[in-house]
Amino acid sequence: MSGKIYLYPVWVRLWHGLNAILIILLILSGVSMQYTDPANPFIRFDIAVKMHNISGIILSVNYIVFILGTFMTPNGKYYKIAMKGLTQRLIKQFTYYTFGIFKHEKPPFPISKDSKFNPLQQFTYVGAMFVLVPIVIITGWALLYPELVLTKIMGGSGLKFNDFIHVIIGFFVSFFMFVHIYFCTIGATFISNFRSMVTGFHESH
Ligand code: HEM
Repeated sequence: MSGKIYLYPVWVRLWHGLNAILIILLILSGVSMQYTDPANPFIRFDIAVKMHNISGIILSVNYIVFILGTFMTPNGKYYKIAMKGLTQRLIKQFTYYTFGIFKHEKPPFPISKDSKFNPLQQFTYVGAMFVLVPIVIITGWALLYPELVLTKIMGGSGLKFNDFIHVIIGFFVSFFMFVHIYFCTIGATFISNFRSMVTGFHESH
């Protein structure tokens, strides 16, 4: 059966579009600053620093929009993980992605107005938005104002530790994004999930 359900309100689509663009800019400028040859950088160093700082500041404001939207609108209900039976649900969805989908089985957790995310989506979205992204934002602000945060609170040694956490968790966010985009291609058609984030309507098989 095929059908369309309105699942992505305007604010989610606007937040998500800006979030995706900023994270891509942060990855490009971050990787350029960290890894390219300073004599022949991918993005000129001073430009990469400005790009990274400005994108990080806008991302922080956009993150506040996400938090307010999540706690103040009905969209928040999709982020509440029911702990009972969680492992079994995750295994069931994982088994579907690794075997069932190739045998054209029906998805074990069909998308509906009451349940927008399958268990793996819900788990990874909560992990990305409530663990990874806030850690990157907090450690990023600490790097922007090291004299206020790191030397005062943690002593000089905090600087390297904070930098390490920022880079590692930033890498996890990048990894999340690539896996996320891959899974978004497994919709009713290759592009239907991407279209959903433009129109607001989820298209089912
Ligand atoms: C170019 C990059 C990206 C693309 C093409 C993309 C694509 C999509 C698509 C098609 C959906 C709707 C289908 C679904 O719910 O799975 C979605 C939802 C979502 N994406 Fe992304 N995404 C990108 C980057 C990101 C990043 C960087 C994050 C977080 C760090 C993120 C977090 C989310 C969340 C939390 C949702 C669910 C939103 C809601 O309905 O409440 N996405 N994404």
